[in-house]
Amino acid sequence: MIKKGIILAGGMGTRMSPLTKAVNKQLLPLYDKPLIFYPLSILMLAGIKHVLIIVNKGQLNQFRKILPEKNNIGLKIEYKEQLKPAGLPQAFTIGEKFIGRDNVALILGDNFFYGQSLTKILKKNASFKKGAKIFVYPVKNAQQYGVATLNKNKKILKLDEKPKKPKSNLAVTGLYFFDNNVVSFSKNLKPSSRGELEIIDLLKIYLKRKKLSAEFIGRGGAWLDTGNVKDYYDACNFVSAIENRQGLKIACLEEISLKNKWINSNNILDAISFYGNCEYSKYLKSLIN
Ligand code: DAU
Repeated sequence: MIKKGIILAGGMGTRMSPLTKAVNKQLLPLYDKPLIFYPLSILMLAGIKHVLIIVNKGQLNQFRKILPEKNNIGLKIEYKEQLKPAGLPQAFTIGEKFIGRDNVALILGDNFFYGQSLTKILKKNASFKKGAKIFVYPVKNAQQYGVATLNKNKKILKLDEKPKKPKSNLAVTGLYFFDNNVVSFSKNLKPSSRGELEIIDLLKIYLKRKKLSAEFIGRGGAWLDTGNVKDYYDACNFVSAIENRQGLKIACLEEISLKNKWINSNNILDAISFYGNCEYSKYLKSLIN
């Protein structure tokens, strides 16, 4: 089982400036919660309790206010700073000590996943031991993402980062499961022509060794982009539509933790006093009534 996960929550958020000039993108509201709750909820649904959050230099205190290291949601949270956004694989060198000898999941702080069979898919894949896993999702604008070309048997034939003419419509989403080799592989990567370490180059090492597999998040699921302002608001509207229709919340961390039996109703009461008098607290109260 994967027991550790990293959320990469740095980056400059330049595509969303001026919104992101003073506040890190992952702390902006995605409808009724900070964006970072959503990727964190995905790790929790996969059964991961030990989490490293990597943030921009100077932004630790902002994050600690909402997700303190010693918190009441049944997780062990640690933080590290990224001095400059030099590429996604830096997560594994910054996180080397955190990872230790274990396998690790990486989720990008701005990735939103939702869907009926998601928890099942996550749990099933979290039990892997060797190699690496990617999660692919069909999109119309594949040229904006890492793209995977698969054969009929779900075997990965090719990976490309933001190809001008994609050969497939399958985007490589920002959720990855890696075995412990990821640390040493990351150390040996060289920056690409845009001067960054590329996650696709890291995945290609696993592919070359026949150790990379792909899991589908099918069309019944949702993987939404939060990269620019328009997509961000579309994702907000999606959460609003589902939550207001069902009366159930997406990415309520305490609810997931309670269902996982990591916390009890006393912890929910603590969370209510932490958040204060708000809709989110009312929802928490309904969980224990
Ligand atoms: O979202 C999935 C895509 O994420 C993949 O399909 C691509 O293969 C992968 O390269 C990545 O592409 P993006 O262009 O979306 O990556 P971006 O540079 O925007 O970074 C994604 C998030 O990670 C963003 O919230 C900022 C954060 N980040 C990024 C870098 C490069 C960091 O925290 N540190 C970094 O060094």
